[in-house]
Amino acid sequence: MTNVLVVRANNRPDGVSTSMYNAFIEEAAKNEALNVTTFDVFEENLEYFGQELFNAFGKAQNGEELTTREARSLEAFNKSREALTVADVVVFAFPLWNMTIPAALQSFIDYTYGAGYSFKYNEQGQLVSLMTDKKYVVLNARGGIYSTPETAPMDMSANYINLVIGGVYGMEKIGEVIIEGHASSKNDAQAIIAAGLDQVKELAKNLTVNA
Ligand SMILES: Cc1cc2nc3c(=O)[nH]c(=O)nc-3n(C[C@H](O)[C@H](O)[C@H](O)COP(=O)(O)O)c2cc1C
Repeated sequence: MTNVLVVRANNRPDGVSTSMYNAFIEEAAKNEALNVTTFDVFEENLEYFGQELFNAFGKAQNGEELTTREARSLEAFNKSREALTVADVVVFAFPLWNMTIPAALQSFIDYTYGAGYSFKYNEQGQLVSLMTDKKYVVLNARGGIYSTPETAPMDMSANYINLVIGGVYGMEKIGEVIIEGHASSKNDAQAIIAAGLDQVKELAKNLTVNA
């Protein structure tokens, strides 16, 4: 059994990346080799990451009472890490909004990005990834085209997830579907989206083979 965590990072019912998430979930449910769990970063309503978390660590250790925000931050930290720890494969379904990822997904990254958990520094001060036994999948939608040499560096959505999850955490990417250009070429939009959703279903169907 492969434990698949599907991270949903869009609360727009009509979002294209929402459709990618739905298509993946629907097809993955038919794949008996997968044990699928989900983590909806909007529904989790994660407290912003900041000093509240560091206060919470200290106070919890000393048995002191936490403020509401400190308690919420500690809860977000625990929930995010518990979900990630047990996953063999992590599927990220997310949009490009305002050139980057939604803030709610950033919170999930903030709570799982940590020395001693997802990476460490060796004696030479170099970063060593600690999640090299895990795999990840990118399901991303972006209205414009960001796959040309000129526009690729402008994307801080898929590029960012690949940099953190692949580059820092060290997970191996085993699948990627990016639906793009549907906002900039309206005539082809439906065909572009349909082709991408077919790719998502194919990926879900064959996931254990790849994993
Ligand atoms: C709030 C918002 C911000 C967006 N910002 C951008 C952007 O900066 N560049 C772009 O090419 N498309 C942008 N888009 C279009 C999305 O990339 C496009 O709708 C894509 O399908 C991903 O969003 P979705 O999954 O919510 O549909 C934006 C869409 C929304 C709803």
